[in-house]
Amino acid sequence: MNVISVKDEKEMSQIAAEKIIRLVHEKPDAVLGLATGGTPEGTYHALVADYQAGGTSYRKVRTVNLDEYVGLDPEHPNSYHTYMQEQLFNHIDIPEDQHFLPDGTAASLEYECRRYDKMIDSLGGIDLQLLGIGENGHIGFNEPGTPFDSGTHVVTLTPSTRHANARFFGKPEDVPERALTMGIGTILKSKSILLIVSGEKKADALYFLLNDPEQTVRFPASALLTHPDVTLIADRAAMSGLPLKGRNY
Ligand code: PGA
Repeated sequence: MNVISVKDEKEMSQIAAEKIIRLVHEKPDAVLGLATGGTPEGTYHALVADYQAGGTSYRKVRTVNLDEYVGLDPEHPNSYHTYMQEQLFNHIDIPEDQHFLPDGTAASLEYECRRYDKMIDSLGGIDLQLLGIGENGHIGFNEPGTPFDSGTHVVTLTPSTRHANARFFGKPEDVPERALTMGIGTILKSKSILLIVSGEKKADALYFLLNDPEQTVRFPASALLTHPDVTLIADRAAMSGLPLKGRNY
């Protein structure tokens, strides 16, 4: 794992955006795996700023998102479809039919999961997957206990994840109980992974990831330890749980 330690969230976002921009310049039809939540907002902001300054075109890029809540229409204000439109797609030149998220309203969620994995394969796989980490070590919505070879599947969100995401909804009980998520196996098939981590709330998760080399389904992010191309960008607050000396990465 290549670890880049930065001062703060702003620097993390800038460096993450630069890596994505570099890839899009090298491979204009790259397949980008995208994430939602609080952490990637600054990265999307930096991508939009670069686009508006005339820097980068996304006309050939394809994107696939990690996850979506079950039962929320794409137009729902808290759906990840809406998040992606507002944070990124409305502001860059990516064509409407080149960005993909799982459909949380599909009549058969099982069929939708299989369809989503096949669709990613048909695009040629993910060149770069942007990832955050949950306080409990989840990646995407892969909660503790998820097998490392899982494909896209339906998950029941843990109380801690619903609690963490309640800030985006009016009331905690409005957070959907289930979601569709790319599996850990889907994520591990990505050619490269960019893990961004910011803030003290993530310090424990980062501590486990970097100081306990054991791979265990109890801590989903540990699946990343054997992937050949993972870059972690973490800010000082997220690194605050780590000893300054003797880090084993
Ligand atoms: P956050 O979520 O960016 O909103 O902290 C990250 C995650 O749960 O994966």
